[in-house]
Amino acid sequence: MILDKKTAVVTGAGKGLGAAIAAALVRKGATVYGIARNADALGELKNKLGDLFHPVRLDITRHDEIGKWVSDTFSEENSPDILVNNAGVGSFSKIDETPTETWLDMMNTNLNSTFFITSQISKLMKKKKTVSHIINIGSILGQVGKAESTAYCATKFGLKGFSEALYLELRFFGIKVTCLSPGSIETDFFKSSGIHAHSNMLHPQDLADTVIHVLETPDNMLINELAIRPLNPRSPEK
Ligand SMILES: NC(=O)c1ccc[n+]([C@@H]2O[C@H](COP(=O)([O-])OP(=O)(O)OC[C@H]3O[C@@H](n4cnc5c(N)ncnc54)[C@H](OP(=O)(O)O)[C@@H]3O)[C@@H](O)[C@H]2O)c1
Repeated sequence: MILDKKTAVVTGAGKGLGAAIAAALVRKGATVYGIARNADALGELKNKLGDLFHPVRLDITRHDEIGKWVSDTFSEENSPDILVNNAGVGSFSKIDETPTETWLDMMNTNLNSTFFITSQISKLMKKKKTVSHIINIGSILGQVGKAESTAYCATKFGLKGFSEALYLELRFFGIKVTCLSPGSIETDFFKSSGIHAHSNMLHPQDLADTVIHVLETPDNMLINELAIRPLNPRSPEK
């Protein structure tokens, strides 16, 4: 896909990986609708990225609001070419110490919201004459389990299954689906989820460049899955 003048929706665009993906798309000339709850973070990004970036203050767990926003913003004549399902939260605890609300919040943010927005936007993408692309940001913890990570692993394993079933369903409509599964990335995720960061993490910018590469592949070429890790998760010896 040639990204210039394309339209993209990126969830969780306020910071971290989502902000890096939004910026990389804008640099390529795409119009980006960036979704997050924090208006200040979105406003700062708008100041940096300019007219091609449209901040959208939305909670993606709100099915009704997502539906309204999609139908108010897009139509068959003006619909997204790209959807990046990136918004996600993590909380890590022993199974018998995980509050039900925490479990439900992770399910709603990481998994259910992906269904809410993808079902709305894929309906529009199916009508397009050109190729479109849905990228789901999973995790290495959607491929391997980790102790004290049941809820997060369940959402990311779920997202991997969702992505695989979705690519098999949508490929005949000219819609690519990719599940990108990164290892640890240097973002606020570690602070907000309360787990230990290590000193040699992936950089959001490098992953954003990978997303651009996946999007720019020829129309009849689909990278449906990609696992990306730091080569050495310890800081190199000085
Ligand atoms: N960091 C890592 O090591 C790592 C590794 C593998 C995979 N991932 C995945 O990568 C994705 C991005 O994570 P990150 O590291 O960039 O985390 P981050 O820095 O914490 O950013 C998460 C983004 O998601 C948004 N978000 C969260 N809940 C939302 C909701 N209900 N509605 C709308 N937006 C919401 C946040 O904005 P608001 O709070 O303003 O809504 C924020 O913009 C996630 O899916 C995560 O699971 C991260």
